[in-house]
Amino acid sequence: MGRLSGKTALVTGAGRGIGRAIALKLAAEGADLVINDLDEGPAAETLAIIEGLGGAARAVVGDVADTEFPDLMIAEAISAFGGVDIIVNNAGYIWNTTIQNTSDEQWAAMLAVHATAPFRLLRAATAFIREAARTETAQRGRPRTRKVVNISSVSGLHGAATQIAYAAGKAALLGVTKSLAKEWGRYNVTVNCVAFGHIETRLTQPLDDGPRSIEVMGRDFKVGLDLATLERIRAATALGRPGSPEDAAGAVFLFCLPESDFVTGQVLECSGGASS
Ligand SMILES: NC(=O)c1ccc[n+]([C@@H]2O[C@H](COP(=O)([O-])OP(=O)(O)OC[C@H]3O[C@@H](n4cnc5c(N)ncnc54)[C@H](O)[C@@H]3O)[C@@H](O)[C@H]2O)c1
Repeated sequence: MGRLSGKTALVTGAGRGIGRAIALKLAAEGADLVINDLDEGPAAETLAIIEGLGGAARAVVGDVADTEFPDLMIAEAISAFGGVDIIVNNAGYIWNTTIQNTSDEQWAAMLAVHATAPFRLLRAATAFIREAARTETAQRGRPRTRKVVNISSVSGLHGAATQIAYAAGKAALLGVTKSLAKEWGRYNVTVNCVAFGHIETRLTQPLDDGPRSIEVMGRDFKVGLDLATLERIRAATALGRPGSPEDAAGAVFLFCLPESDFVTGQVLECSGGASS
């Protein structure tokens, strides 16, 4: 029996990186998983790993920013596992440029994936959560505790040059977190945020042999950190190293545990003690 046995967890962007590590951690602790990713292959790999470990999982492949996506994700959780207990809004990517090179399209895309999509998924979960809370209160006097963990960034907390649009999206998510914590307290849902510093994924790969890019929805985006930046971040980090996706998943797990049932509306910085 894991610590999350009997719970159903939804994790977006779980085909790679931090999202995959979160999905595997929650599954290893006994949760049933509904995962999402834009890309079918990586989503299928995450699913296969969970099933190989004896866990139960379903995948909803697609763009979290599509208007149809939230209802599909919630419906899959209810039909496959009977409900929703944990929602982790993790999917995202970077599209970095200085302000004068930031287009309206780029601004809108960063806000859409980092703020609008989490808002819509949480809004789509409301009907189930409200009804479940009502039924559970009638049956046992109190709803079971449910958990939302939104994934932000130190850029959203402190800002970062060339990340105007990304940081705005990640900062908006802090407002979503704090407001929904106040709104959903009555349903016994805790709503918290984890803001990551440097975590080693494809977004932060070292640029030791030239530029790198990733493809998101058929378009290339520059990623990676040059060696001088990596050294500057390391020197400003108390623990003196970047985090692994498993380190990142551990911080999210804290907010999924019963020990955090009286913690809501909070932002946890998971950055190895990086100074801003
Ligand atoms: N890596 C870091 O240092 C770092 C730091 C701060 C915050 N973050 C945040 O953590 C989250 C995960 O990032 P990561 O480093 O694991 O990146 P990653 O690229 O390794 O993984 C992100 C996954 O999300 C998916 N994805 C991207 N856009 C999507 C969309 N519109 N719909 C559905 N899926 C989508 C990608 O296909 C990918 O599989 C992101 O929100 C990112 O902004 C990362």
